[in-house]
Amino acid sequence: MADKSDLLKKIIAHSKEYGFVFPSSEIYDGLSAVYDYGQNGVELKNNIKEYWWASMVQMHENIVGLDAAIFMHPTIWKASGHVDAFNDPLIDNKDSKKRYRADVLIEDYIAKVEAKIEKEVAKGKKKFEDSFDEEQFRNTNPNVLRNADKIEKLNARFKKALEDSDLVDLKKMIEDLEIACPVSGSKNWTEVRQFNLMFDTKLGSVSDDSNTIYLRPETAQGIFVNYLNVQKSGRMKVPFGIAQIGKAFRNEIVARQFIFRMREFEQMEMQFFVKPGTQMEWYEKWKQERLQWHLNMGFGEENYRFHDHLKPAHYADAATDIEYNFPMGFKELEGIHSRTDFDLKKHEEFSGKKLQYFDPEEDKSYIPYVVETSLGLDRTFLAVLSSSYTEEKLEDGSERVVLKVPPFLAPTKVAVFPLTKKDGLPEKAREIMDSLKYDFICRYEEKDTIGKRYRRQDAIGTPYCITIDQQTMEDGTVTIRDRDSMKQDRIASEKVGDIVAEKVSMRKALSNND
Ligand code: GAP
Repeated sequence: MADKSDLLKKIIAHSKEYGFVFPSSEIYDGLSAVYDYGQNGVELKNNIKEYWWASMVQMHENIVGLDAAIFMHPTIWKASGHVDAFNDPLIDNKDSKKRYRADVLIEDYIAKVEAKIEKEVAKGKKKFEDSFDEEQFRNTNPNVLRNADKIEKLNARFKKALEDSDLVDLKKMIEDLEIACPVSGSKNWTEVRQFNLMFDTKLGSVSDDSNTIYLRPETAQGIFVNYLNVQKSGRMKVPFGIAQIGKAFRNEIVARQFIFRMREFEQMEMQFFVKPGTQMEWYEKWKQERLQWHLNMGFGEENYRFHDHLKPAHYADAATDIEYNFPMGFKELEGIHSRTDFDLKKHEEFSGKKLQYFDPEEDKSYIPYVVETSLGLDRTFLAVLSSSYTEEKLEDGSERVVLKVPPFLAPTKVAVFPLTKKDGLPEKAREIMDSLKYDFICRYEEKDTIGKRYRRQDAIGTPYCITIDQQTMEDGTVTIRDRDSMKQDRIASEKVGDIVAEKVSMRKALSNND
């Protein structure tokens, strides 16, 4: 496995070299925080979507899908609070002219103080070896205590400034902490301003303010405003869910770390409509079910954790993030929120339309409560790549890079190679490929040595390679090579389809999710 510190760089390079992810508009020097998915990336992305969709819609009788338009009536974003409050506090450095998120500058500062504590603990561990008592050390070492106290005070002030939208104190904190611009090194800052993250554009040909519409910053609102359409046309009974996969857009100020934080990205969201009062039960259920979905990809329990929000946003009565151990450390992968009846109530208020559900069992109408699961597709893609990217030293001293993606997510399921380009081997290989292509994405390759062809398939995570050789022409058998063990077996060519089908089936990952 590559060293964590340079794993992200390696993944970025590998993604480009093997057609997973390209910078957008590259020949025009790129467009910041926008990326294109290449020939293998789009397959992997589609397979992740399929896994999510099957786990939500196919595996739950009471969850159905939706594909709402990206453009929606602008009042939706007033009602949801995005026009007034979907902001990041930004600050500019007057010398470098670089723009930063004020909260990120402070968070980075606090992270540095935390790193000092960890360095001190590591020093202690080295010095005292086996007799080292970490808890005691953390509770008594003067440097650790001083820095822990500093962090506590900073966090309290920071939290209050954010909660009160106190932009003056955010600036004051940056000044008090003597935070300098990483580019110019100067502390010459502008005031902190709120910056709305929504992209806007104009509808139709008249460009006045009344025609302003927004590119949706989350897919969820399309679900809220359609919930009664779906409920009535599908005769759904509470509790029920609506799932949607689609693009979302945010004008992120600090856009970095590859596809982790993009300006155009995809979300896989599900809103689960429940009887008021039962939301905490469903919230706990969805927390566990979503974690299990991630674990079923097989990347190790230790790489996931919940981060419960101590003070959820005003519209939520509970919220947590599922964090994944990305190459840059543990970061948010998915959000699970108990959103109460906030959104539906607001849409009732702003649209003037009743959005109540008639519950036949209770014989009364009410606005359902909502538990939301909201997963970033691109972040899941990055998690899959980072967990799967493996550098291996082989017995003969050579090295290979192999993408150990779960076979059901692999972009290509099987590659078919004629050993040589003569004696009818290519024709036979094509024949086998033609019988497999109805069920799987297959690749045919006849160029280069067989070893090089195996390496190329390893690098894109193809679970099986089939080789057609002289013996195939005599007895109809082929060799089948397993990506991970590199073991080759000789089997009858008619068995290939069944073997690949079993290997790439999503069934196990889905059935574990019950
Ligand atoms: N409807 C709730 C919602 O949108 P969120 O926590 O803002 O909640 C949900 O976003 C998920 O969308 C995040 O956990 C993350 O995986 C993904 N996401 C958010 N902003 C993103 C960005 N700029 N680039 C890539 N993924 C992003």
